[in-house]
Amino acid sequence: MALIEGTPRNATIKTKTECTVLEIDKINFDMLLRLNSFIALRIMTALTQRIRKTTTLMKAIVLEAEVKAGKLITLFSPKGGAGKSVTAANMTAGIAKLTGKKALLIDLDLQFGDLAFMLGLKAKHSIADLVESEPETADDLRKFLSVHPHGFSVLPSPFKPEQSEMITSKHLRKIVQIAKTIFDYIIIDTHSLFQDLTINSLDISDHICLIMAPEMNHIKSMHMCMKVVETLKYPSEKIRLVLNREECMYAIPRTEIEATLKRKFDFCLHDDWKHALGMVNEQKTIFDTTVESTYRNDFIHLITGLTGEKITEEAEKSLLGTLKGWFGKSDKPGKS
Ligand SMILES: Nc1ncnc2c1ncn2[C@@H]1O[C@H](COP(=O)(O)OP(=O)(O)OP(=O)(O)O)[C@@H](O)[C@H]1O
Ligand SMILES: [Mg+2]
Repeated sequence: MALIEGTPRNATIKTKTECTVLEIDKINFDMLLRLNSFIALRIMTALTQRIRKTTTLMKAIVLEAEVKAGKLITLFSPKGGAGKSVTAANMTAGIAKLTGKKALLIDLDLQFGDLAFMLGLKAKHSIADLVESEPETADDLRKFLSVHPHGFSVLPSPFKPEQSEMITSKHLRKIVQIAKTIFDYIIIDTHSLFQDLTINSLDISDHICLIMAPEMNHIKSMHMCMKVVETLKYPSEKIRLVLNREECMYAIPRTEIEATLKRKFDFCLHDDWKHALGMVNEQKTIFDTTVESTYRNDFIHLITGLTGEKITEEAEKSLLGTLKGWFGKSDKPGKS
């Protein structure tokens, strides 16, 4: 470098053994490069290799420094069909639309996850393609994401069930580590099994939403699930208990469930088959519309409670409207 730029040397060298050293000054060095393109090429190669090495090192340092910027929220239920996927998708859409924060939804239901389909996205890549590419940087990750019209990103589950084997806990941790550098919130939808990958997702989460429906078998499974979670020794504020489909037909009342589980619910989402099915059948999130409903306001409450983020004016208006409705003419929860 000193020879090329004519600047002072930036390093000294001590030899370990006796050496014979060839000394060359700048005038001769320049002459050599002009006359012998082979030597010039070899020197250029050495220099580009050094630049590449330094760039990789810099990227790693920057990545390390930026880790832990984003918050990770995992949705888990011990019983299938509790509403994890619909809730995860609506929650992510709400975070993006109401708070303007950057959100990523990861479908970790690796065999039969269908979040990309539920959100009407024509995904070209899945999490299986991403791990195959061995991502290191945010740009590596971005190439595999599908972007929803609301502005949030989705990392779909593998297109073939057999590809689920490809994704390990190490991959998940790497993906989250990279994602945290570019997203404010990462939401993970899981399947209903305590497996290595799911437990890793719970371990690295900032918040865990345990979701259940107001049914007897859900209460039994949640009771067992909470015992397992206790053994994992997570801080209590990390666990949020969520009741989905509150007040659905033949539902066990919330207070009865709380008494049985000896724990209060942190959040409740009312039964709203029209809007919940709207996503499954018509690929619409609850935030595709600004029309107020109890279910929509439940989500606003969930999002603000969980993230502590401020909501936009539009959402506030909707919330105030419903409150007025409750105290004015009757607006039965779940029927709006
Ligand atoms: N609040 C709700 N009101 C009415 N129906 C709901 C509500 N939440 C979810 N559902 C319905 O429950 C069904 C299951 O929802 P979802 O697929 O989100 O559950 P899941 O926990 O992800 O299931 P799985 O364990 O199979 O992944 C869907 O048909 C959905 O429309
Ligand atoms: Mg699901």
